[in-house]
Amino acid sequence: MRVAIYGAGQAGTAVAGLLARRGVAVDGPFGRDGRRAALESGADVVLIATTSFLAEIADDLRTAVAAGSNVLTTAEEAADPWATDPALADALDREARAAGVTILGAGLNPGFAFDALVLTAMGACVDVRALRVERVVDLSRFSAAILRRLGIGFAPDAFAAGVARGAITGHIGFPQSMRVVARALGVEIERIDRTIEPLLAGGRSAGFAQRYVAVVAGAPWFTADFTGHVDPAGAGLVTRDAVEIDATPPVRLEIAGGLPSQAGSAAVLANSVARLVAARPGWVTVAELPPATPTVC
Ligand SMILES: NC(=O)c1ccc[n+]([C@@H]2O[C@H](COP(=O)([O-])OP(=O)(O)OC[C@H]3O[C@@H](n4cnc5c(N)ncnc54)[C@H](OP(=O)(O)O)[C@@H]3O)[C@@H](O)[C@H]2O)c1
Repeated sequence: MRVAIYGAGQAGTAVAGLLARRGVAVDGPFGRDGRRAALESGADVVLIATTSFLAEIADDLRTAVAAGSNVLTTAEEAADPWATDPALADALDREARAAGVTILGAGLNPGFAFDALVLTAMGACVDVRALRVERVVDLSRFSAAILRRLGIGFAPDAFAAGVARGAITGHIGFPQSMRVVARALGVEIERIDRTIEPLLAGGRSAGFAQRYVAVVAGAPWFTADFTGHVDPAGAGLVTRDAVEIDATPPVRLEIAGGLPSQAGSAAVLANSVARLVAARPGWVTVAELPPATPTVC
């Protein structure tokens, strides 16, 4: 098994370390000047761990697929590309099928906390009426570039302006997770409403509270609450992950302390290599795959 990694930031570097420890041959992680070495390597798997946005990785995906590699990417919009750009998603899906390789967007969030874990928990219920997933997350270890995009360090008016023009996104990936869960259950989402508010410390945003609500048949169906902060304890927040499913029987699941963003994502990604290689050709979501497990590749 050979894995080539494009993106030499936190995620690419961490996954390279985990895979190397498992005895996987790892090329990279490569930065921007090693784009061709990574994407044209023809490795069994190319990991693209650069940016969150489908449009920004589309050419990279094409190049890796054309070279015959399966592609795993951290880009949040890739967890369900049809939520962002159905035409582009269909085109890349067709290219992957024609090349006989698989594309998967995965990580902790999206890729686990708001989708794969939720679907697994639903395995013990019938008649799912509604669900709520909540994460309270320590953001202190994110890179400076990601913290800016999340919306950390802004005065309230600059935060609002950044949100309005799309430069501040908060955490990305909730519509993707919601659609992955909905599709698996055969549920049609009518619309997804969202709000984001800064959490201030010393007059600047040190965190934010986000809520996404997927509406089905005129009523809230999937509520996703994400609170992120660079100093959760100082702000009186307790990091946690919780899943509440209103179903028969109801399910309440809590991960005390919460899943750590960086270590959790790196583990999901490293644990996805074997299931990616075994998957059918085309663009797949985590709903179609067996759970990510710490399998020796
Ligand atoms: N689904 C999930 O759960 C999950 C988990 C982890 C990460 N992610 C996402 O994956 C991305 C990478 O995360 P990270 O923590 O590794 O970020 P990071 O530490 O900021 O590193 C990103 C790396 O990618 C490079 N890069 C950024 N934009 C690029 C582009 N358009 N083309 C080529 N290279 C580019 C950066 O290089 P420069 O320094 O030259 O800009 C940097 O080396 C982020 O968007 C993050 O939100 C998602």
